[in-house]
Amino acid sequence: MKEQKQTVLVLDFGGQYKELIAQSVRKLGVYSEILPGNVPVERIAEKKPIGLILTGGPSSVHEKDAPSADPRLFELGVPVLGICYGMQLMCHMLGGVVKPGDQGEYGRVKAELDPDCVLFKDVSPRLMVLMSHRDHVKELPAGFVPFGRTKGCPIAACGDPAKKLYAVQFHPEVKNTDEGQKVLRNFLYDVCGAVGDYSIDDYIEQTIYEIRERVGNKRVLLALSGGVDSSVCAALISRAVPGQLTCVFVDHGCMRKNEPDEVESAFRGRDLHFIRVNAADRFLAKLAGVTDPEQKRKIIGAEFIAVFEEEAKKLGEISFLAQGTIYPDVVESGMVGNKSATIKSHHNVGGLPEKIGFEGIIEPLRGLFKDEVRELGRRLGLPDFIVERQPFPGPGLAVRCIGEVTKEKLDILREADYICRTEFGKLKKKPDQYFAVLTNMRTVGVMGDERTYDYVCALRAVTTTDFMTCEYTRIPHATLARTASRIVNEVRGISRVVFDITGKPPATIEWE
Ligand code: XMP
Repeated sequence: MKEQKQTVLVLDFGGQYKELIAQSVRKLGVYSEILPGNVPVERIAEKKPIGLILTGGPSSVHEKDAPSADPRLFELGVPVLGICYGMQLMCHMLGGVVKPGDQGEYGRVKAELDPDCVLFKDVSPRLMVLMSHRDHVKELPAGFVPFGRTKGCPIAACGDPAKKLYAVQFHPEVKNTDEGQKVLRNFLYDVCGAVGDYSIDDYIEQTIYEIRERVGNKRVLLALSGGVDSSVCAALISRAVPGQLTCVFVDHGCMRKNEPDEVESAFRGRDLHFIRVNAADRFLAKLAGVTDPEQKRKIIGAEFIAVFEEEAKKLGEISFLAQGTIYPDVVESGMVGNKSATIKSHHNVGGLPEKIGFEGIIEPLRGLFKDEVRELGRRLGLPDFIVERQPFPGPGLAVRCIGEVTKEKLDILREADYICRTEFGKLKKKPDQYFAVLTNMRTVGVMGDERTYDYVCALRAVTTTDFMTCEYTRIPHATLARTASRIVNEVRGISRVVFDITGKPPATIEWE
């Protein structure tokens, strides 16, 4: 094993910003991973962290099933930073008193911070910070001193410097807190003794080393969708074990305009075997007559596995299955301990390995966030149109083609979507995701002197950072008008265009 990088563990108590914390730490040059809040100290000790960060969370420490931590955590001698709920939990567990405030504090408020506290070195002593809490710490544990206050929260920061335990009630990880990154940097470098030994290049080097160790001279199989994650995964593995990776790219007929050819061309010339399966007819036959969105997703998922299995069988002995799983996939599919209701059955995590016997699974991107994966892709020389790609659902245009999926409808949608992506793509500030949807509704129109009765196309554009929530993007009217005009003029089968102005929640980003 190569020399281990300094690691900071983020212990998760259900806070919505945990990913942001881990990502901020890595951007500050220190490797970081997220673990469930109640992980036993033995597992923490195995990772030899230089620091621990306890996240926020929606609970109150007084609730019956409030998330808690292993109490031995504070005896490890490892510096700890508690944030929001993490601060309350730390103080509560160490003998302090946490009480509900008279009223909560939500939003940006002014904090007065002690400039002598190491956390606030070179930080303005009066700082606008993001607060989001009802409970707060009323009495400190023995050995702790207060380091900051706000109007509604007399102890907004505190710590026991001798034991290197620190806590803040506000959220330094978000942009809404001024100079928040400095607070995190001070914790990492001045409290934990970070040296800044982590960069994305280390990740590449370390991962290549690990893949080589594990794979030896055996073969690896990857289902390549052409999306960012599976593409970066392919580039990384083919660099680690040249010639030993086989990528199977299944064209299920629900890809965007030109997409299958573009994906194929992006991988031509790399040291891997690329197999393209043109299976559109097969998928469309299975989808005939099906209108229910979940059923469409399930049919495509199952057929995808069937096609992939058939191809795998033809290839002979292959020992490893690679997957482009990234950290948010792990969280969304409940593998880190957060359970959420199934809104839609996403297809990309799980499914394959149980069905096909492999010696092991390789998931080299499992700890990374999307923008880190993109950065990795750039370093590995993937073209921009792959690295900058918007998210595209596994079932593809099938979930943007409302009602029954037919080749005719898909062809209409492909053209409209192409125009939408071209026009919205010219905006200086692009939405985070934008595409066209073919509604299953027809309306009356007039073209020349003819009455038409054609489909309504909906345009969707969203602004989001996490894709779990979004706002619709305020697209300039001139762009909307040009896009609509081009679609009705250039695409046969569409006579009306509408723009979706719903946020998520309640509407999801995809229509199905
Ligand atoms: P929703 O529609 O649930 O989508 O608001 C959130 C984000 O996920 C993408 N999406 C998928 N991605 N497999 C994927 O890899 C899927 O089956 C899938 N379904 C939706 C969607 O495009 C949006 O970015």
